[in-house]
Amino acid sequence: MRGIVLAGGSGTRLRPLTLAVSKQLLPVGDKPMIYYPLSVLMLAGIKDILIICTPRDVERYRALLGDGSALGLRFSYAVQPEPAGLAEAFVIGADHIGDEPVALVLGDNIFHGAAFQQVLREAVRQLDGCVLFGYQVHDPQHYGVGETDATGRLIGLAEKPARPRSNRAITGLYLYDPDVVDIAKNLRPSPRGELEITDVNRVYLERGRARLVDLGRGFAWLDTGTPESLVQAAQYVTTLEQRQGVRIACLEEVALRMGFIDARTCRRLGEDMGNSAYGQYVVALAREHGA
Ligand code: DAU
Repeated sequence: MRGIVLAGGSGTRLRPLTLAVSKQLLPVGDKPMIYYPLSVLMLAGIKDILIICTPRDVERYRALLGDGSALGLRFSYAVQPEPAGLAEAFVIGADHIGDEPVALVLGDNIFHGAAFQQVLREAVRQLDGCVLFGYQVHDPQHYGVGETDATGRLIGLAEKPARPRSNRAITGLYLYDPDVVDIAKNLRPSPRGELEITDVNRVYLERGRARLVDLGRGFAWLDTGTPESLVQAAQYVTTLEQRQGVRIACLEEVALRMGFIDARTCRRLGEDMGNSAYGQYVVALAREHGA
């Protein structure tokens, strides 16, 4: 399976923070925002990852993440000249996807919860068409919304409806079979001028090949779109990290636990981080694993 992190957009709601730097490079706690969605793809077992960003920021992403080999991964980069819609990721990423299934994650989405890896791996294993992940929110009108029947089966989808038919938001993590490329190429821009991911999902739904996996209570799906939600996300992450002494979305740790790198490599990566608390955490972890 291939992975795409979509990290473009203009981040207007976060100005002036985003005047000089991409939103997905801003810190959430002690690491850049993009670490969180990247860790999601890694937990799903995905190693080939395309990062799509604005032309302005592509060299910054390269400086941060390189070619991925340090983490046992393969990163490539592509630019989206204008924020023409989430579904454009599949047009830009067509060669990267080829005839493989693909997971798209939005570069500003943070997921955290027990058994998430299990949920992900199961969804990847059972993928037939598309899998969407739902999350209960109090303000569904701000999201893609999924409507389900009494058995929990997905029966309708709407993008930011004025009168939502459920409180089930569709999160920014999507799994698709390779048909998604053709579906995206045949979309027409919506009234707001974007290639909408919800229109892609509706095609799968109409074909009877869209499944909704519910991320239940006790699970965190966090927003980072406004200064307030960015602070809240950082507080959530920092509170848990300090309480438990473990880190959320530490890429070196995920790579080690997934078997993408060995403990010696992990230790070297931690040492490269200087005397930061993050670096010391990575070194301590490598030691625990015998390096
Ligand atoms: O976060 C989940 C929601 O994401 C879904 O529930 C919605 O169905 C989906 O449309 C999307 O809604 P948003 O209002 O959050 O989309 P937004 O335009 O803010 O874009 C989400 C992220 O993707 C944002 O960080 C910027 C980036 N982006 C956006 C567009 C339109 C791109 O990289 N390229 C784009 O063309």
